[in-house]
Amino acid sequence: MERKAFLRTLGAGAAFALTFPCVQGCSKDNEGGLPIPTGVDFTIDLTSSEGAQLQNNGDFILKNEVVVVKNLQGNFIAASQICSHQQTDQVRFIDDDGGIFYCSTHGSRFSQNGTPLNTITNNPLKIFNTELNGDILRVFE
Ligand code: FES
Repeated sequence: MERKAFLRTLGAGAAFALTFPCVQGCSKDNEGGLPIPTGVDFTIDLTSSEGAQLQNNGDFILKNEVVVVKNLQGNFIAASQICSHQQTDQVRFIDDDGGIFYCSTHGSRFSQNGTPLNTITNNPLKIFNTELNGDILRVFE
């Protein structure tokens, strides 16, 4: 059976669903992908070579699937490297709109508190706590 005839047998609703599977934003949130990090609790010595990569405002590093950032105001923040949209590990910090989290896979943008800034996903990005004790930065849930 040809595609056209096949669709005709299904009726208009099914044909629409088959033809426009992305009508609700092409968003299949939380299906497959990498697990969003849980149980996060680690430290970074800011005097180490690792910590040296967080010297300047806007710097970030990736550690244990977490994006650890020194934001544009000089505060340490941290978010899941695994995107809340389709769980790729492409979340980064970018110097845009005062500093946001951005996933290059489909272009999701998140504020520093994890709120989605566009319609690609409604799921907030997971944010972690940070605590600075001397030169030791702790990142935890
Ligand atoms: S996985 Fe789709 S925007 Fe990140």
